[in-house]
Amino acid sequence: MMWTTLIAGLILLSAIPPGLPRSIYDVEGRSKRSIDLNDVYYSKMRQFRLPNEVTATSYHLDIKIPSIEKNEFSGHVKINLTWKDTSDRITLNIHQNLEISKVGIRMIQLPPDEAEKGTPMKVNIARKERQRFKSWYIIHLEQMLKNGSACEVDITYYGNLTTNETTGLYKSAYMDITGKKHPFIATYLQLDNAQKMFPCMDEPPYKATFKLRVSYPVMQGFKACTNTPLISRRTINNSIEEEFEETPVMSTNQLALVISDLETLFPGENVNEIDGRKLQVRVWGRKEFLVSLTEVPNKIVKIVNYLQNYFNSSLGLPKLDMMAIPMYSASKASDNWGLMFFKESELSSPLVWTTAYELFYQWIGQSVTPYRRNDAPVNKALNSYLASMATLDLNPDEMEGKWPMTVLYSLYYEFAQTAPFSRVAGIRHEATWTKAELVFRMFNYTFGHELFQKSVRNFFHQQSKEDRRTFFANDIFTYLNDLANETNNLPPGLTINGIAASWINRDRVPLVTVIRDYETRKINLSQKVYLRDVPPQSTAKVSYQWDIPIVMQAEDNLNFHDTKPTVWLRKEIVPKNLTMLDLTNKDNFIIVNPEEIGMFPVNYDSCNWKMLSQYLQGPNRERIPPLTRAKLLHDAWNLAYAGELCFGIAMNMTLFLKQEKSHVVWEPVFTMIHHVGRRIEGLDVNFKFEAYIQSLLKPLYLELGENPQPDEPSWKTHMRGLMQNFLCRTGYEPCIKEARDQFKKWLIDEEPDKGNPVANKFLCPVFKWGTNEEWEFGLQRVINFPKTSLARKQNERTYLLKTLAGCPKDANKIEKLLQVSVLDQNENFTDADVQLIFSMLTGSATGYKTLFNFLHDHWYTVKERFQNKTYLWDGIINSATSSFNTHEGYDRVSQLYVDHQNEFESADAIIRKALRIIKQESIKWNEENVPVIDAWLKENLSKEDLEAIAAATSISTTAVPTTTD
Ligand SMILES: *[C@@H]1O[C@H](CO)[C@@H](O)[C@H](O)[C@H]1NC(C)=O
Ligand SMILES: *[C@@H]1O[C@H](CO)[C@@H](O)[C@H](O)[C@H]1NC(C)=O
Ligand SMILES: *[C@@H]1O[C@H](CO)[C@@H](O)[C@H](O)[C@H]1NC(C)=O
Ligand SMILES: *[C@@H]1O[C@H](CO)[C@@H](O)[C@H](O)[C@H]1NC(C)=O
Repeated sequence: MMWTTLIAGLILLSAIPPGLPRSIYDVEGRSKRSIDLNDVYYSKMRQFRLPNEVTATSYHLDIKIPSIEKNEFSGHVKINLTWKDTSDRITLNIHQNLEISKVGIRMIQLPPDEAEKGTPMKVNIARKERQRFKSWYIIHLEQMLKNGSACEVDITYYGNLTTNETTGLYKSAYMDITGKKHPFIATYLQLDNAQKMFPCMDEPPYKATFKLRVSYPVMQGFKACTNTPLISRRTINNSIEEEFEETPVMSTNQLALVISDLETLFPGENVNEIDGRKLQVRVWGRKEFLVSLTEVPNKIVKIVNYLQNYFNSSLGLPKLDMMAIPMYSASKASDNWGLMFFKESELSSPLVWTTAYELFYQWIGQSVTPYRRNDAPVNKALNSYLASMATLDLNPDEMEGKWPMTVLYSLYYEFAQTAPFSRVAGIRHEATWTKAELVFRMFNYTFGHELFQKSVRNFFHQQSKEDRRTFFANDIFTYLNDLANETNNLPPGLTINGIAASWINRDRVPLVTVIRDYETRKINLSQKVYLRDVPPQSTAKVSYQWDIPIVMQAEDNLNFHDTKPTVWLRKEIVPKNLTMLDLTNKDNFIIVNPEEIGMFPVNYDSCNWKMLSQYLQGPNRERIPPLTRAKLLHDAWNLAYAGELCFGIAMNMTLFLKQEKSHVVWEPVFTMIHHVGRRIEGLDVNFKFEAYIQSLLKPLYLELGENPQPDEPSWKTHMRGLMQNFLCRTGYEPCIKEARDQFKKWLIDEEPDKGNPVANKFLCPVFKWGTNEEWEFGLQRVINFPKTSLARKQNERTYLLKTLAGCPKDANKIEKLLQVSVLDQNENFTDADVQLIFSMLTGSATGYKTLFNFLHDHWYTVKERFQNKTYLWDGIINSATSSFNTHEGYDRVSQLYVDHQNEFESADAIIRKALRIIKQESIKWNEENVPVIDAWLKENLSKEDLEAIAAATSISTTAVPTTTD
């Protein structure tokens, strides 16, 4: 799973029902590529690297398949090897399942000095050694050969086609509609699987040319396809023999072969001629699948043209075959040079991003490979960035304007945590290349598209020269550095590598503060580490600094195409801030870091914020592009949350949302509502806050219409879902009515346990605002949920249980749930269910308060029940105590702690931590911000709203004991 989804999932868990796309990664299917070749290769890198005195330069490979039924094959390979250093042995990789029948060797070249002396060309094999454990085959020679010698080794061998998995040279089959089986033979040589097909030097840095010949039995419609075009085909004794052109120099794992009856599609358009060549594109698939692929060839031509243009070079081969392999099981597409393999569903997708990513990968990957494992993320980042740019250019709708915001806001969120990545293990690595991708984007803006493209070209063309073909992460930046320096674009005293390092190597981002002095017309810029929560006192203070490009816009001269920095805020300068002349006069606002050019939020003086807020409410609002509007809102609200900015100013920045129509601007709003909502959950101010949210959401919701229109863009559906969800949560009447009407279908169903006719999104509103009967009906459905049913998935039940626990605002529903699941020990509730209930109850004040009361009232029963289940005991203590946010709450929790001082056992640290957080974070946060938010809301809500709230509050306080500050 893509890590941004993980983070978004955590943030929004209780806010957004599953099933709604949360980030562009879900929508675009980017998450499929979470495992990349480089990662796997380097993490799997064998301890046994081949000695490098002798290297292979070319292979002639004959593969014979005598019968399609028998799963056997025989091979004959000739390998030309040259000596880089003195050695009397040749070491090859060969998989243990291949058997060697004959080995020969001949000398084809002497080192220059010996050739002069007229030394005879002689070489003999002394002995052969097979080290199965290392998959090594060592040929010991009688003679010691010197640097510059060359030999041809000749090996005859045989083996079996793989049939139990899809690696090496494997056999598989697919079924057509009539039930007829179509066998096919294909390769998967990525990682180190080439040695399963032939003896070779199976490590990516050993690059060589390959000349392939295959023979297989005559079968209706069968052809072979490999990296290069066919040069001859003949039929001898009932078998076909095909020979292919020699490949350019490449790694063994790039070789590919398919023998099948798959059929082809050709594009309607041609690839542009380049270097005197015209690439021929073909798309392959099962006959019955071809109709799903009809649009694909032209899409590929479009992308290839883009790539040729970007690199100003050809793919280096005369043809490119893209094949949808039936039942392709590898986690990633196989980007063999000239013959790429995809899952059927992946190749048929109309989206540009994934295909562009694979093509960039092969374009760059066939020429240059990262040198070390640490260099791989940068390679991936560059591919990913280029693919995103290609998508923006070729099919902008696909991004829906949301890139890079979705990834960026997740990064801001994570990096601003006291301990980044502490909640989700294993995503740090993913975040590294996302950061690098955003650094490429930053450079593309700050140095301009042209300079960036030129340096990518230089990198590609220089590093792909014969003698290099591998690179270090820094190389990419070095090319940019040299070009920027040459063209006088390099900020004095800085290097690109130095700038990049500060952004890539840290799990933090800076906060830039911009203070304008309107009297002296000076701007003061400073930087510090951006944090959302006040770190505990024990945490060591970090004093990171960054080299930060300061791109600026002024109200009287808006030009968002100008993305060159006015200045660089540098890490070395002392004192740590910078003063410069203001760009404009005191009546105009300025914007720093528009379009999220750099990865950092920006704070301003209150005057500038005020001017921004007013402008955004005015008629010219759209002169500021959506991504920048979103950023201003995002930064204001998050900075207020972090205590960097007065909440009143942040709230002012939301006023323009009443007119805002762009989904890009709206996207981050839901997360922010959720964050603030959680802080003030259970306080009176929350009613006002919810009323305000309603007033913001309603206009756009009404405009979107309640029901999806046919063919509407996906963002609309997505937005409507989010809006409905939030409106429902705040008690918007029409939404609740609709939810209950839908729910009725289930209520009157004669066999309600056969299936759920109600869409998930309606459940929460019904359980929150509906009657006890409706809620109890839901509870029965969980209890009666069929344990084994093909028609109903367990996650349906999980969702139902989550909403039953997390949504109600009446304590009695929750009491009932706890009664059934904990006290009655109803056997239909597993321990995992109980754990889930506890964690869902932290989402609402009613939830955790009711849980607290329950724990308080049934202390000994609960303790005994969870005696041997520490995690449930810890779970209930944590969920019941940690979410309180008032003094009264603190007192109740600490009273509980005093009353049962020695009885908490494993949960002792948990309750102590809860007490600390309530006091140091929650109460402190509330004391600082709630009065401000409350005052602002009182001023900005309509009289009717305020009266309605006053009425509602008096009812609700009788239902649940809430507290007022
Ligand atoms: C090896 O080199 C010799 C001499 O250049 C050539 O005749 C032969 O075809 C080459 N063999 C392979 C496997 O490339
Ligand atoms: C191929 O498979 C057959 C039957 O399973 C087995 O007897 C034979 O040893 C295998 N050959 C090789 C080279 O592993
Ligand atoms: C397939 O068989 C080979 C040897 O016969 C074995 O090493 C490998 O683990 C098997 N793979 C799977 C997926 O079972
Ligand atoms: C920029 O180029 C000049 C002249 O070639 C060279 O002396 C200098 O070291 C370069 N600076 C950087 C940062 O590469």
